[in-house]
Amino acid sequence: MAEAGDGLVDLRSDTVTKPTPAMCRAMADAEVGDDVYGEDPLVNELEERVAALFGHEAAMFVPSGTMGNQIGMRLVCQPGQEVLGDAEAHVVTYEMGAAAAVFGLSTRTVVSEGGVLSADQLIAQVRPFGNWHLTPTAAVAVENTHNRAGGLVQPLAELEKLWAWSRDAGVAVHLDGARIWNAAVASGVPLDTYGRLADTASVCLSKGLGAPVGSVLVASAERIAEARLWRKRLGGGMRQVGVLAAAGRHALDHHVERLADDHARARTLAERLGVDPATVHTNMVVLDGVAAPMLAAAAKAQGVLVSEVSATRVRLLTHLDVDDAAVDRAAEVISGLL
Ligand SMILES: Cc1ncc(COP(=O)(O)O)c(C=O)c1O
Repeated sequence: MAEAGDGLVDLRSDTVTKPTPAMCRAMADAEVGDDVYGEDPLVNELEERVAALFGHEAAMFVPSGTMGNQIGMRLVCQPGQEVLGDAEAHVVTYEMGAAAAVFGLSTRTVVSEGGVLSADQLIAQVRPFGNWHLTPTAAVAVENTHNRAGGLVQPLAELEKLWAWSRDAGVAVHLDGARIWNAAVASGVPLDTYGRLADTASVCLSKGLGAPVGSVLVASAERIAEARLWRKRLGGGMRQVGVLAAAGRHALDHHVERLADDHARARTLAERLGVDPATVHTNMVVLDGVAAPMLAAAAKAQGVLVSEVSATRVRLLTHLDVDDAAVDRAAEVISGLL
């Protein structure tokens, strides 16, 4: 699987992975039931497993990380209250304004140093309840790893500081953990340590773990009971969805530890492209100061797909469908263009 079937090396995102033959077999063999009735055995098993992995009481399977994030934030923030987060966070950048458009939540952002979470910076911006003028801050959203910050792993000490403060302040913490698996593998911090530092967390099976679809929202049992109402309202109640839970189970069984390979390949790619490998935290390589549209078009013409983050920034992601030969090919093409 050095290259996608069409001969392309696709480094645009880790969402482009296709189910492996073994994952397809697991999906084909899935025993299913109606999950809206709570009767799909593999969904129930997956939810229990993911809740336990993150040290929470309960979990709910959702079609996307966006739905997991937005329901997660709604559980801890009421309409007219605000969620505070990083200016480059996925929840405010790439989710189509859903917090406001769908749930009536206000969002406010801080510009951090390279996406690195600073508890003090966030705490300083929190607005209290009970003031007749201010929009109160009900929750803080954290992203780990941070996508637009190049797959950055957030410092554990800052997460712990924010969490300790939030307990006294009565402010909730939502974790966008789309790539929390990458963070855990890169840092060695256990998943449940990350999980216990959040009231609600959305984790994706469809990024580095290689499942075709699916994310899981974890929280307390009470909150997940409410989350099920929101998911149904949004049309996210899926029926014999065990076929997707089977892919998720396979991904958890086989595709977590191997993320270290993606990280190593990202470092190799960085070295080959003259990018400081110290800027590679997980599976992303960022090329700054390039003519992004031109580079992307020229690379595509040679069968390598990259993602344009801005006019001067390109992003390359390694994933399940990128092996050593694909890295080699991409490095050859892109270094030739640089
Ligand atoms: C950090 C982060 N959060 C959330 C999401 C949303 O996931 P989905 O595309 O499944 O809605 C993504 C998607 O790439 C992401 O990178």
